[in-house]
Amino acid sequence: MRISVIGCGYLGAVHASAMAELGHEVIGIEVDERKIAALTAARPPFFEPGLPEILSSASASGRLRFSTDIADAANAEVHFIAVGTPQTTGTYAADLSYVDAAFDALIPHLADGALIVGKSTVPVGTAARLAGRLAERAPHASLAWNPEFLREGFAVKDTLQPDRLVYGVGDDRAASVLDQVYRAAIEAGTPRIVTDYATAELVKVSANAFLATKISFINAMSEIADATGADVTALADALGHDARIGRRFLNAGIGFGGGCLPKDIRGFIARAEELGRGESLNFLKEVDAINLRQRQRVADLAVEALGGSVFRRKITVLGVTFKPDSDDVRDSPALDVAVQLKGLGADVVVTDPEGIENARLRHPQLAYTSSTTEALRDAELVVLATEWREYRALDPHEVGRFVAARRIIDGRNVLDPVQWRAAGWQLRGLGRP
Ligand code: UDX
Repeated sequence: MRISVIGCGYLGAVHASAMAELGHEVIGIEVDERKIAALTAARPPFFEPGLPEILSSASASGRLRFSTDIADAANAEVHFIAVGTPQTTGTYAADLSYVDAAFDALIPHLADGALIVGKSTVPVGTAARLAGRLAERAPHASLAWNPEFLREGFAVKDTLQPDRLVYGVGDDRAASVLDQVYRAAIEAGTPRIVTDYATAELVKVSANAFLATKISFINAMSEIADATGADVTALADALGHDARIGRRFLNAGIGFGGGCLPKDIRGFIARAEELGRGESLNFLKEVDAINLRQRQRVADLAVEALGGSVFRRKITVLGVTFKPDSDDVRDSPALDVAVQLKGLGADVVVTDPEGIENARLRHPQLAYTSSTTEALRDAELVVLATEWREYRALDPHEVGRFVAARRIIDGRNVLDPVQWRAAGWQLRGLGRP
């Protein structure tokens, strides 16, 4: 099929490449010229495992092109909207200006029978509003909402082999067009749910709300564990054996961040309030508050570990991205903690395998180095903030050779306390004795 993907960020660049990999003819549209230049040269403008491979094979096949001009999308039968919906400054609501702008820009270029497919995460009611606009201005085209569930770090796999497909449609034809787009996944037996716009929009935000709640639940348990000497990791293992609960997303620590979970739960709260149903989602305010408290807990632990003040003390922060295998620092708890400690007067050095450039753009006041050993040199305290594989695998004896004092806060509860303490380290986790 001939496909356009409007917006080539973390979602759109992967989606465009994956669609071309599946054999479709794809054009990616993006306003940022630097991104388009990189993508055209088959260089991903961000770090995502597996993307370089599919981007270069799809580009070499001639089935994948990029442009800054939306008129180049005119030939497509299906247009995916994959632009961002960030939190609006000063409120909880999602900023829909990029979705609206992409939609309006596309309308004059729609061929007869074209299908617009929204992938961006939007407040429930958006698709119906846009469908109304389309009916007035381009009745020869139609709209579907097909939320995206990809996880950064696994985005290529999640796009090529999704665990489910959700189509919010206004007519039957839209579903059969999407079936053609996703034929490979459907033939592989991927469950497919065809529903109305509102349900499709809600599937996405409620999935993220559920995941955020699961993380904040275990983080709340970690606070109780700290007060009682219990071990939240053993607790999570035991809870996880109950198939109704499951072990995944029960890792206590510094909390969730990224471009999705935090802003999606806030946008959902704002939308519920607009609908006069604010009380239904009041619990999500608590989920958010527990999550933000974790960042504060790590900063407090740092102050405690250094005897009451971090002023002019050298602290090494290992990891700055919101999770491993990504260069994304949007709403990163690791970056937040580093900034808090710097604000308290600490001499903070941050290292990360992929996230330094993005972090530096946001917080140039922090010191960065790409070398782990350089970062660790003379540290009086180490904070493991993002659980990259290489940090999980650190050898306590080896690390001990570089630091000034063997103190570590394991903000992700991934180190073996027995092993680190045996090597002379004072180790603190979150909810672990
Ligand atoms: C999330 C959803 O998982 C995905 O389905 C949706 O499409 C977009 O939002 P992503 O933002 O890539 O994906 O990250 P995810 O893997 O969900 O992790 C979110 C945050 O939660 C990270 O900061 C991670 O470190 C944290 N987390 C995750 C925990 O603190 N504990 C856990 O047990 C799991």
